[in-house]
Formats: sequence, structure tokens, C-alpha cells
Amino acid sequence: MAAPALIFASNYDDPVAWGEALTALMPALDFRVWPHAGRVEDVVAALVWKHPDGALRKFPNLKIVINLGAGVDPIFADPLLPEGVPIVRLVDPELTRGMTEYVVLQVLALHRRMPELAEAQRAARWHYIHPPDTRLTRVGLMGLGNLGSHAAEMLARIGFQLSGWSRRQKALPGVDCFHGTDQLPRFLAGCDIVVCLLPLTAETENLVDEKLLAQFQPGTAFVNAGRGKIVVEEALLAALERGQLRHAVLDVFRTEPLPPDDPLWRHPRVTITPHNATAGHPRTAAPQIIDNIGRVLAGDAPFNVVDRAAGY
Ligand code: NDP
Ligand code: OXD
Repeated sequence: MAAPALIFASNYDDPVAWGEALTALMPALDFRVWPHAGRVEDVVAALVWKHPDGALRKFPNLKIVINLGAGVDPIFADPLLPEGVPIVRLVDPELTRGMTEYVVLQVLALHRRMPELAEAQRAARWHYIHPPDTRLTRVGLMGLGNLGSHAAEMLARIGFQLSGWSRRQKALPGVDCFHGTDQLPRFLAGCDIVVCLLPLTAETENLVDEKLLAQFQPGTAFVNAGRGKIVVEEALLAALERGQLRHAVLDVFRTEPLPPDDPLWRHPRVTITPHNATAGHPRTAAPQIIDNIGRVLAGDAPFNVVDRAAGY
């Protein structure tokens, strides 16, 4: 019988690093890189990020689709996604640590009003801002999953007050937890900084629109590290203009790369990072991938399976 083969398809991740990390743990694994799929019947696993539409249909014995990241919206973007094959996502400790680092970095910068201080420095202007009291500042996390809950834990240790919002009811130490659309206004009230760590689903697409932004308390700072399509960019720009938002830090965009003529690039109160808040790491993610391949080959259910109906 042929060795189990894995097809790797990503233009964003290094196939050599992933191949080495995976075959170090499973030497029998036949690691193949798209479009060099070889004999398609051998392929039992696909490790993908933004794979070409219809690519996964080519493998009749596919037993698992592994997303090379936490957010699975690029997989669901494929209109020809095979039915019945489990889709799993990365829950990688290094990816999680990287996102916590990003959230803490941006929240602290906003809390200490670094964008205003940088602007004052460019004008050689001594702009004294009294150090704000962390204990009187409330950070709201939209999304209390793997990434949101880890970020909350670190922000709580720094001393911020915390609110969190999820789809289903949750209880996290030190976090005032809200859930569901009905509780969204109560969650937003009182938040000085709102951080979006939601997945892109049918329910969250365009969630941060004009109506929702009107419910942010005036002068809120906003960070989006979830997905670009959760935010209506025209509404965000309008909220910045009227001061409802004092600053926006954006890592993700409706169109990536962000086109050079997009007004977000030049807005004085927008900070842009190029979707690099965090990423999966071969060394720390490989064990769970190999574990999951072993499980599906043995006929067992894999871990971190995505709920196709919920979309995340
Ligand atoms: P999880 O699936 O662990 O958590 C998702 C959270 O969002 C859960 O708390 C979930 O609620 C909540 N949620 C989902 N739908 C809704 C809804 N309709 N209303 C309210 N809450 C909702 O995902 P992760 O934490 O691992 O990742 C979150 C997202 O971060 C990814 O999907 C991806 O889009 C983004 N990301 C961005 C990266 C970057 O570099 N910018 C890197 C990695 C991820 P519940 O707890 O009730 O299920
Ligand atoms: C992810 C990402 O979802 O990098 O992992 O955006």
C-alpha cells in the first residue's frame, strides 16, 4: 500500500519548513506541494491556506482538510468544497501567543495615546498627556474563543477592566461576559477600547456597520484583528470623522493587500498592519496536525473540527 500523502497548498507559508516539521514526526508521510499532487488516490490529508477553488475535489480518498490558520473563511470561500470531509483549524500555541502580543501591543499604545504623541513629536510639540489609569480603562473583546480568551487573560494581568462578547454564554475569570446580539449594546457601553477577534461568518459579516458604531461610546478606540469583512469601512471612516472613534488599528481588510488608493492608508487616525498580527508556526503546530492525521487514518474523529453550519 502507498504511504499516506499530504497535499500542501499555500502561497503564504514555506513548504520546506512545514514539510520538515511534519515528516520529522511522521517519516512515512509523503509530503507533496500543490500543484504537484502525484497519484491523487494517495492523498489523505490537505494542509491549505487560500487553496485554489475546486482543488480539494481532486482527491477521492481525502480524510481531513487542515486549515493553515485559525480562521477558516478561506476554506468556505471555495464553492466546490467536498462534503463530508472534516475541516480542522490550527489551535497553535505560538499563533495564540503572537495574537496576545499584538493585542497587548495595540491596546497599550492606544491606552497611552501613542498615535497622538507621535503626531505631536512630528510637529516638535510638547503635548503633555497625563498617564491614564489602567484600572479605570475598560477593554472589550468581541470574540472570546481561543484568541480572545488568551488576550483577555494577559490584559487582566496588566490591570485593565475587561468585557467580552461571544455567541454563546461564557464565564471567564475577571471578564464581564456578554453574549448574543441582544447583549451587544450592553457590552459596548463603557468600553474605552474595543478589540475584534471574531471569525468571518454569515452572522459577523458587516456586523460593525453604521448602526453598531453609533453604539460605541464617543471616543472609543477600535482594533480589528479578526477579519476585514466584519467591518464596513465607509462606516468606520465616518465614525472616525465624527469622533465616535478616536483611532482605529486595522490588521485585516475587505480587500487584501489593501489597494494603494484606499483612504484608510492616509487617514491620520488609522494605524495599518499588513495582516501580520500572528501566524501559525510549523514547529509548534506540527504535533496536532500529525496527531489528527493519525486519528483519521485510524477511523477516529480529529480535534479542532470546524462547525460547518456555524462557519467557524
Ligand atoms: P474561536 O473559534 O476559538 O473563537 C471565535 C469566538 O468568536 C468565539 O468566542 C465565538 O463565540 C465568537 N463568535 C463567533 N460568531 C459570533 C457571533 N455571531 N456573535 C458573537 N460571537 C461570535 O476562534 P479564534 O479565537 O481562534 O480566532 C478568531 C478569529 O481571529 C479567526 O477566525 C480569524 O478570523 C482571526 N485571526 C486573525 C489573525 C490575524 O493575523 N489577524 C490570525 C488568527 C486568527 P462562542 O465562544 O460562543 O463560540
Ligand atoms: C489566521 C490568520 O486565521 O492568520 O490564522 O488570519
